[in-house]
Amino acid sequence: MSNGYEESGLHYRSDDPRSQKQDDVPNPELRDRLKAKKKPPVPEKAPLNEMSTVRKVIGVVSGKGGVGKSFTSSMLAVAMQKAGYRCAILDADVTGPSIPKAFGLKEKAMGDDYGILPSVTSTGIQVMSLNLILENETDPVVWRGPVISGTVKQFWSEVVWSDVDYMFVDMPPGTGDVALTVFQDLPIDGIVIVTSPQELVSMIVEKAVNMAGLMKVPILGLVENMSYIECPDCGKRIEVFGKSHVDEIAEKYMIPVLARVPISQEIATLSDEGKIEQFDAKYFEEAVKVLK
Ligand SMILES: Nc1ncnc2c1ncn2[C@@H]1O[C@H](COP(=O)(O)OP(=O)(O)O)[C@@H](O)[C@H]1O
Ligand SMILES: [Mg+2]
Ligand SMILES: [Zn+2]
Repeated sequence: MSNGYEESGLHYRSDDPRSQKQDDVPNPELRDRLKAKKKPPVPEKAPLNEMSTVRKVIGVVSGKGGVGKSFTSSMLAVAMQKAGYRCAILDADVTGPSIPKAFGLKEKAMGDDYGILPSVTSTGIQVMSLNLILENETDPVVWRGPVISGTVKQFWSEVVWSDVDYMFVDMPPGTGDVALTVFQDLPIDGIVIVTSPQELVSMIVEKAVNMAGLMKVPILGLVENMSYIECPDCGKRIEVFGKSHVDEIAEKYMIPVLARVPISQEIATLSDEGKIEQFDAKYFEEAVKVLK
């Protein structure tokens, strides 16, 4: 049945499904080729070891060192593992690897025919870090970008990650070149930003948002560490650095606040003793809800 539109082949009525198929370029193959040409080059990601399974990769970033990025990476893994997910930590902070110490991992990593085996913590978290490979942990690591990148790629490709639901990547501090290189090397699914109230949080978040935009990955949330202290007698919160701005910033960028962690001597002591898994995961309950 003809309605007069079909003959011309150009002007289908808007309620005619064929009207959707119209295109500027009549040749679909040519159109696809043109589209493909416009895409920016995709940086090459390292391949995963054929024996590995890793479902979600979450990068943990900070503005500078010392704000608790490694602590947060550790506790996110601890809390998610406790919630029943199989977790791993890839310590990509090659110049300041601190994950093995916090978990009390002392044995060097071993290998088998398939690759390097990660160390496993007392609750079953798989860990790979330069400190598990270096003969002497106090050896200074003054590597430049390409070597760091190569090491992180090896942690991804040559380690046998066994059935991992969530891998947390302790990223190099900052939002500069080194962190960006790690981002380009690994298939990161999302980012968690760690800040402390002594910092210019809005600037750090803005930089991280820009970096995430560049890599086309979502920011999953913000963790404010060393946020306040708790009175040991009555539990009252004391905001030693003044009122926190993290809520305003979270609202401005529409990013959830995953955790607010007080300054606690227990954290310092437990990470020193290699018992970070014993730290109460209650501060990360919200993080588990958002990430899972
Ligand atoms: N909330 C906290 N309260 C007390 N000490 C903390 C807290 N968070 C981290 N620390 C300690 O501060 C130091 C720096 O933390 P770390 O996670 O290593 O920072 P980063 O990885 O950002 O350099 C570590 O000794 C750690 O145990
Ligand atoms: Mg660290
Ligand atoms: Zn009190």
